[in-house]
Amino acid sequence: MKYPEIKTTLPGPKTRSLIEVDHEVVSPSYTRTYPLVAESAKGVWVRDPDGNVFLDFTAGIAVCATGHCHPRVVEAIKLQADLLLHMSGTDFFYTPQIRLAQKLAEIVPGNERYKVYFGNSGAEAVEAAFKLARWHTRRELNLAFFGAFHGRTMGALSLTASKALQKKHYNPLVPGITHIPYAYCYRCPYHLCYPTCGIACATWVEDTLFRTSIPPEEVAAIFVEPIQGEGGYIVPPPEFHREFYRIARKYNILFVADEVQSGMGRTGEMFAMTHFGIEPDIITLAKGIASGLPLGAMIARSDIMDWEAGSHASTFGGNPLSCRAALATIELLETGLISNARKRGEQLMSGLKDLQKDMECIGDVRGKGLMIGVELVKDRATKERASEWRDRLIRNAFQKGLLLLGCGENTIRLCPALTVSPEEIDVCLNIFQESLAEIFA
Ligand SMILES: Cc1ncc(COP(=O)(O)O)c(C=O)c1O
Repeated sequence: MKYPEIKTTLPGPKTRSLIEVDHEVVSPSYTRTYPLVAESAKGVWVRDPDGNVFLDFTAGIAVCATGHCHPRVVEAIKLQADLLLHMSGTDFFYTPQIRLAQKLAEIVPGNERYKVYFGNSGAEAVEAAFKLARWHTRRELNLAFFGAFHGRTMGALSLTASKALQKKHYNPLVPGITHIPYAYCYRCPYHLCYPTCGIACATWVEDTLFRTSIPPEEVAAIFVEPIQGEGGYIVPPPEFHREFYRIARKYNILFVADEVQSGMGRTGEMFAMTHFGIEPDIITLAKGIASGLPLGAMIARSDIMDWEAGSHASTFGGNPLSCRAALATIELLETGLISNARKRGEQLMSGLKDLQKDMECIGDVRGKGLMIGVELVKDRATKERASEWRDRLIRNAFQKGLLLLGCGENTIRLCPALTVSPEEIDVCLNIFQESLAEIFA
């Protein structure tokens, strides 16, 4: 079985000197949890400048869906690089952008006709959905959720309610957004229990919010992640999304699914909303869509995407290289990787649930496919958040050559490439267990 190879103390000398330079010249706003410098990578293995090899269960924040530098994706990029690097879809047409829009419109859940707007990132895709919702409905209000992460540009940040730090000193933001509770059943905002709660967190919106404070006919859109990502890998019960979908239909409110993190096969379906039987009006995509090249997409029903020429655009959005990488990525997803995400996700989930039986500090294990969160607590009865243990686990794992990331306040996210093998899952589980045990040694 292939294991990480850690040959130096971490960080190694070359890594350390590069990070010293970084500290002098790169923005200090980035959150780096541990000192990894990625020099090269293949599949789920990342090599640093000192020759250390790490097992990557982050996939560059759920981006490298097909694994690092998948040969088919690299080949598609190289072929395109020889043909056309840039022309700008704002003013001209080019084949990869047209073909990708055609493909996305074909695979989106629903039997309607769809159109695609291209940007460069998740935030840009969300920003575009936000603007289109206003344009199409001529309504000014929107609903979003506590715990949501939709990006960091001013519009997307206004919809975000994940960590207060992300908004600190940036007010005033875009007005007219009301944040409401998400179905975080492990920590129910109403201290109720599913299913006897009757999804009170969702029914409250029509029963109370729309009666007392917000006229539904002024609401343009509901922005919702199918599974909250940055907020803690939180999977709501299916009735939660269905209730909001019903409300959206009843009041002509647009249902916008932010699939930037959950989309592109990660959860074992091309789009995570499929798990909940929902066909959204608008879907935002980025991260896994192009295996690491920058690309954001906002897909909307054709009758909704009715804005006029000049109302929104982007010089680089949907650039030829990114579109070719996305077409190669989708082909790989459709021809095996989505089903691998399902199978390897089950293996990882059951391994973590086994660990939970022995480790009191694992409060909750949840997720779908290869989007799995492990929430650490000081005490299972009180559910006191074990944020420092979570951070120590991540640092211990790094020292042993396993790359992990956190999300929420006290959750570890596991989001490896969809190419991950059964053996690589086993190695991750072994190191995860050792790293957790070390906290209490
Ligand atoms: C659900 C969701 N939406 C939007 C974004 C923003 O994407 P980006 O960082 O590409 O702007 C993220 C990033 O983590 C995300 O998880």
